[in-house]
Amino acid sequence: MNKNLRKAIIAGNWKMNKTRPEAKALLEAIKPLVANADGKIEVVACVPFTNLETALAVTEGSNVKIGAENVHFEKSGAFTGEISADMLTELGVEYVVIGHSERRQYFGETDETVNKRTLAALNAGLKPIVCVGELKWERVCGITEEVVGKQVKLDLYDVTAEQMKNVVIAYEPVWAIGTGLTATPDQAEEVCAFIRATLAKMFDQATADAVTIQYGGSMNAKNAAELLAKPNIDGGLIGGASLKAEDFNVIVQAAVNG
Ligand code: PGA
Repeated sequence: MNKNLRKAIIAGNWKMNKTRPEAKALLEAIKPLVANADGKIEVVACVPFTNLETALAVTEGSNVKIGAENVHFEKSGAFTGEISADMLTELGVEYVVIGHSERRQYFGETDETVNKRTLAALNAGLKPIVCVGELKWERVCGITEEVVGKQVKLDLYDVTAEQMKNVVIAYEPVWAIGTGLTATPDQAEEVCAFIRATLAKMFDQATADAVTIQYGGSMNAKNAAELLAKPNIDGGLIGGASLKAEDFNVIVQAAVNG
């Protein structure tokens, strides 16, 4: 495997945090810290819908890209409370998190809706960060590969090899999210390598080699370098640690130096 074949992406997932003034302050703190990553790795902040316009304005002309945390699959219509892919692209949003385990767990997201959202995002020109990962008991039962393999196949159904150039996959073991329990670098590498092997079967080796696969789940300033040193871990989707500029920057610098 050759890491030079793909771009490292460090993306913050702010979840339901930060008002507009708080978002502005955080991004203004992050921007100068990560400026040296320009041209080396991609730095993304995925923020609540209400912060998108502010975030885009604050980061304009910088190397910090902005993402949303979800998108609906229909183009428009009677879907109260939902946001379409066209609404996001019109704002200037580039990335969107899809199928986060919190959406799957609390909001009834299924592999079918993750797939529909992924296709809608791609067709509108967004770059989806598709999240997959096993529950604790699925790991205990030894079915991590079955679970993650099934998610990858279902979530990316009907996506073409050409479209895969714009897809990012985030491997996030559910038991590691927000718990302080990080997968060991070897555990994370094993599943990320398995995801790449699955993509090679679904598409071809060159397509699989070019896909950025992130690890997510309690990645922080202390453990990032070790995780990012693994050959199949091409970045991180960072929750808690993305809400502090200094911590987020340590992770970005680990990817820059990795
Ligand atoms: P965490 O969240 O870093 O707080 O564990 C990661 C995520 O949910 O994407």
